[in-house]
Amino acid sequence: MLTLNTENLSTQEIQQYLQYAIAPRPICLASTIDLEGNINLSPFSFFNLFSMNPPICIFSPSRRVRDNTTKHTLENIKLVPECVINIVNYDMVQQVSLASCDYPKGTNEFIKSGFTQLASELVGPPRVAESPIQLECIVQEVISLGEKAGAGNLVLAEIKRIHIQDDVLDSNGNIDQVKLDLVARLGGDWYARITADNLFKVEKPNSKLGIGFDHLPKEILENNVLTSNEKAQLANVSLLPDLNMTTQAKAFSLETLKAIKNALDNNDTQLAWHIIQTSI
Ligand SMILES: Cc1cc2nc3c(=O)[nH]c(=O)nc-3n(C[C@H](O)[C@H](O)[C@H](O)COP(=O)(O)O)c2cc1C
Repeated sequence: MLTLNTENLSTQEIQQYLQYAIAPRPICLASTIDLEGNINLSPFSFFNLFSMNPPICIFSPSRRVRDNTTKHTLENIKLVPECVINIVNYDMVQQVSLASCDYPKGTNEFIKSGFTQLASELVGPPRVAESPIQLECIVQEVISLGEKAGAGNLVLAEIKRIHIQDDVLDSNGNIDQVKLDLVARLGGDWYARITADNLFKVEKPNSKLGIGFDHLPKEILENNVLTSNEKAQLANVSLLPDLNMTTQAKAFSLETLKAIKNALDNNDTQLAWHIIQTSI
């Protein structure tokens, strides 16, 4: 195993390892303005949702690793503490990349990247009309993480108004995760696209406690055919089914194990336990 102390690595090396490891990251396309109303638009993947009440998301325009200068987005926010966070889908991704170019201060990246300005209702910076979800935010605080090149600046943005395009809503008025077609940033030039065929659900009933690996019968726990994911599905039931598995219990046949795997693959944990019960 490669083990590294960050104090022995350059900022570029840290960036190289950690941006690949801490991924995929959602992308916010942030629009801001300066005191004269000049508009800026830049993407940030050091971004996430951190609080529901109040609803706060945080993104981080870092000091440039190259020359330790600060980003125009940060400079604008310190003058006018408002922003619009525009969520990025697949259809926008090449324009988003273009908007990340280091254009001189005062350049409106809406114009450079071909996005359409849409007036906001509560804040000064405009929305990106092409974005499926636009969040009008008031910046509550900016926390500097240092003065060295590569240091982050946490922008704590309170979401005041949410605009959602109709075509990403389902019939109940909720966001349809597949229709949204989100993209995320990974290491280097890698991006991920969230499509129907790479989405899956993991059942996590908040109301119940899973029995845990420590309560799995030895014949399940020590079985090498079942994966750790499959054992975790079995350990996620709240009651251990009535099993009579003793230290002498016979091993499962390959056919039985395949049936258990198949049930778990279909998210049918009850059936998987039923097969276990009837096979011992
Ligand atoms: C998808 C994507 C994500 C990015 N994420 C960040 C980030 O989280 N923090 C950062 O400082 N720069 C990030 N960048 C680079 C900035 O977008 C870039 O430095 C931009 O020019 C900053 O513009 P500004 O100086 O006008 O604010 C990202 C670029 C791309 C394409």
